[in-house]
Amino acid sequence: MMAFRLAGHDDLPAINRLAKPNDAVWSERAWRDALDSGYDVHLMFDDTVLSGAAAVQHCLDETELLEIVIAGQLRGKGLGRQLMEHLLHVARRGGATRMLLEVRESNLPARALYESLGFTQNGLRKNYYPCENGREHAVLMEKNT
Ligand SMILES: CC(C)(COP(=O)(O)OP(=O)(O)OC[C@H]1O[C@@H](n2cnc3c(N)ncnc32)[C@H](O)[C@@H]1OP(=O)(O)O)[C@@H](O)C(=O)NCCC(=O)NCCS
Repeated sequence: MMAFRLAGHDDLPAINRLAKPNDAVWSERAWRDALDSGYDVHLMFDDTVLSGAAAVQHCLDETELLEIVIAGQLRGKGLGRQLMEHLLHVARRGGATRMLLEVRESNLPARALYESLGFTQNGLRKNYYPCENGREHAVLMEKNT
């Protein structure tokens, strides 16, 4: 059974250890900036082991997913889905009617996760993210909570 709580600054080193070396995910600095900006960083624990983290920003009746990462060695076991379902539940409880996100076009695991949860594409931001071969598009997605 997973447990959830909000992160504080003391959690930053552990959050930073979740990513694999080649992941295109936030740096520790970016997670810190999110906390400093007042965004919610949700943590998911399997017993005492930190297994995932996600940052969200609430604005009126919308919640935007800013980042999500599952511990490298624990991927593909349904944990990303559990964390996303928790975020959707919290968003709904907080009065959000929509969740928004953007994802690299090449990030097929993440896109498959979002699609399996009912997110649909509502836009494309061309050449948005820097990548190894230049730049790649951001796929914009949304779901009614
Ligand atoms: C994207 C990420 C959060 C998914 O977490 P996860 O725990 O591995 O995903 P789950 O095991 O919950 O998988 C849920 C669904 O996602 C899809 N999925 C997950 N991994 C996949 C893969 N490697 N290939 C294709 N689809 C995949 C499947 O639809 C899967 O459902 P299924 O198991 O019923 O087929 C995780 O891979 C991660 O942390 N990646 C690095 C950070 C990142 O890219 N974050 C997204 C930023 S937008």
